[in-house]
Amino acid sequence: MSGIWGKNVQVSIFGESHGVAIGITINGLPPGLEVDMEQVLFEMARRAPGRNELTTPRKEKDQPEILSGLLDGKTTGAPLTAIIWNTNTRSKDYSLLKNVMRPGQADYPGRVRYKGHNDHRGSGHFSGRITAPLVFAGAICKQWLAQKGVTVGAHIQSIGMIEDESFADQKEVTLEQIRSFKEQQLPLFNVEKETEMKDLIVEAKEDGDSVGGVVETFVLGLDAGYGNPFFDSVESQLAHLVFAVPAIKGIEFGTGFDIAKMRGSEANDEYYYDEHGQIKTRSNNNGGIIGGITYGMPVVFRAAVKPPASIKKKQQTINVEEGKAAELEVEGRHDPCIVPRVLPVLEAVTALGLMDLMMGGQHHE
Ligand SMILES: Cc1cc2nc3c(=O)[nH]c(=O)nc-3n(C[C@H](O)[C@H](O)[C@H](O)COP(=O)(O)O)c2cc1C
Repeated sequence: MSGIWGKNVQVSIFGESHGVAIGITINGLPPGLEVDMEQVLFEMARRAPGRNELTTPRKEKDQPEILSGLLDGKTTGAPLTAIIWNTNTRSKDYSLLKNVMRPGQADYPGRVRYKGHNDHRGSGHFSGRITAPLVFAGAICKQWLAQKGVTVGAHIQSIGMIEDESFADQKEVTLEQIRSFKEQQLPLFNVEKETEMKDLIVEAKEDGDSVGGVVETFVLGLDAGYGNPFFDSVESQLAHLVFAVPAIKGIEFGTGFDIAKMRGSEANDEYYYDEHGQIKTRSNNNGGIIGGITYGMPVVFRAAVKPPASIKKKQQTINVEEGKAAELEVEGRHDPCIVPRVLPVLEAVTALGLMDLMMGGQHHE
């Protein structure tokens, strides 16, 4: 049942890229939550394709149609279902791909797993398009979180080898900064890197190739005491959702893999009382989570996004129908870099994971 996730807020996603529609049912939303649809549509537009020269020209409005669970702008508490009709599909682009397995795509493993019955058009249920309903759900979760003073933000940490500053380099990250990220084509702390990054993406596109990158996500305003040790740690909860996002190949919390190079005396986050008597730590190498439980500092993680697999450049592969080697140049409309579009999806699944966690009521006051 790979399409269902959650304990306290449960989501169930469905649809194929070139089918009739895609969508989601959300169970467990509290009744009476006012949903600002403008905000929901804004979040969905951040993920939608065809917004600028850096993404696929497939233009899709990603307009959700709400079938249940919302009355007079407020959640009823019953399952909330939204669908998005697929209106801009060109399946003939994909007819050749039924038997020729695209390297780096789910064609081969998906064919074996589903005994050849999977919808292969536009990657079917494996498509990044299925993340649109997740952004819909995440946008609602963000509104619930906002009422609790919790905000999720993200910036592009890197595209290829070009790096932005990190969250840890900043003195303070304000809500204003997070709002301005949402307006940027490439959300960056150091906006001077934008041109370099754009040039790299355009260069890859002109080569018929693609580039990847890293997204850094952070959560502000989360109190100490959420989470659990072992199987239900906050890291497990978030990593589960982050790896559900297509194209994610790695995650690290706080200082991540670099913590292995430090001594304990450097890695430990020393506690102190700030001027308001609040407990803080001087560093945040543990990314806001120790023992699987939040300690009141921002939760910070970075996720590696791979260069999208569908490229025009000639590649060697196989034709499984003929049982022979084959050459492939992927036609159709593809992104040379999906990092800016994956970023709002990562924010959305983080919001979903946090709401599920907080609704579990593990926080001891
Ligand atoms: C928003 C979004 C858009 C995507 N667009 C593309 C794309 O245009 N071309 C492509 O090859 N992969 C794209 N992907 C990634 C593929 O869906 C993914 O690589 C594939 O399903 C295999 O899964 P895996 O990379 O997680 O192993 C996209 C992913 C997301 C989240």
